[in-house]
Amino acid sequence: MTKPLNIGMIGYGFMGRTHSNAYANVNHFFDLEHKPVLKAVCARDEAKAKAFAEKWGYESVETDWKKLVARKDIDAVDICTPNNLHAEIAIAAAKAGKMILCEKPLSMNVAEGLEMCQAVEKAGVPNIVWYNYRRVPAVTFARQLIDEGKLGRIFHYRAVFLQDWTISADLPQGGTALWRLDAAAAGSGVTGDLLAHCIDTAIWLNGSISTVNAMTETFVKERKHNLTGRVEKVGIDDACAFLCRFKNGSLATFESTRYARGHKALYTFEINGEHASIKWDLHDLHRLQWFDHRTPGPLRAWSSIHVTDGEHPYMSKWWVPGLQIGYEHTFVHQAADFLEGLSSGQPAGPTFREALETQKVCDAVLSSAKSGRWVEVL
Ligand SMILES: NC(=O)c1ccc[n+]([C@@H]2O[C@H](COP(=O)([O-])OP(=O)(O)OC[C@H]3O[C@@H](n4cnc5c(N)ncnc54)[C@H](O)[C@@H]3O)[C@@H](O)[C@H]2O)c1
Repeated sequence: MTKPLNIGMIGYGFMGRTHSNAYANVNHFFDLEHKPVLKAVCARDEAKAKAFAEKWGYESVETDWKKLVARKDIDAVDICTPNNLHAEIAIAAAKAGKMILCEKPLSMNVAEGLEMCQAVEKAGVPNIVWYNYRRVPAVTFARQLIDEGKLGRIFHYRAVFLQDWTISADLPQGGTALWRLDAAAAGSGVTGDLLAHCIDTAIWLNGSISTVNAMTETFVKERKHNLTGRVEKVGIDDACAFLCRFKNGSLATFESTRYARGHKALYTFEINGEHASIKWDLHDLHRLQWFDHRTPGPLRAWSSIHVTDGEHPYMSKWWVPGLQIGYEHTFVHQAADFLEGLSSGQPAGPTFREALETQKVCDAVLSSAKSGRWVEVL
């Protein structure tokens, strides 16, 4: 018999859908002690919340997240709202003794993130941040290869995350769907939205980052604000590029923009080690590119590993070798790992405390872009 784990989800947008799908499917594929129950979904518009609840199978709706957090029948609060609400909801949920699954970035800044860490640690509640790219099987496999020492000493880490959806100066900022352009709701632009993913993956694969030197640009300086109706200054970074040094001595470059015409979500990374290199591309997410210098000369070449065999991470839980999975499965994996962590007592990462490290790098990047100087990640 599985133990029910009652989920109260706040926000039913893009992430609300990916998480609901994960909760609905995780026990079909993973053998777990706990089973998520879609107890309640919360959104401000009752009719829309009800329609969502009906479509996805939630038992009830709330229109005020404080009521959802206070409910005795909720075990875990899932925060799928814009970034400016993460801290307030998480701290209230921790005080109410709820487990918390929070969307990324952890917070608007380090100060807020630290308060969130203190709140969950004081309450002793399980917590996790949805940095889901760690759980693409090819990315998890990259981590295994690195941990096994197959790359040897790492010299370089190179990551990009490119989009092109904000190029039009006519696009407003703020409100539904466009909160990402509003600094008051998002905290930052591509740094917290996209580079945070790259940074989380990088820290997970290659260890801590020690110093950064960044530049940012806001190409469209003013946009109409959907909430005020006025043309207002744009406070987010449209593009950001930074150099950094990892504590293991390797050098890195990171770049992200929403102004790379032709790119919708090109997230790639490459790691160059003493013996071998690896490359990964979100558009081809089930493949890991591998080059091993130790292969005899005439056969030495980049190879493309189709990460779909039973012995590859997570893949034995899905179909048969050779059949690939996609983006939504990363959320199923994260839900599975979170639930497994509840049973084993070994919490799945990144916990709030681990995700705070990414927040520290984001803050250092934004600070360096302002000062034009190298900044230490404290
Ligand atoms: N892990 C990932 O890959 C990934 C991808 C996209 C977004 N995100 C993160 O997920 C979060 C949500 O992003 P999204 O793309 O789902 O946004 P979205 O705009 O699609 O959805 C946001 C939801 O929050 C709700 N909301 C806003 N204010 C609320 C309030 N006061 N009370 C209750 N509900 C409220 C909105 O109604 C909406 O349903 C953000 O923090 C974002 O950074 C993560």
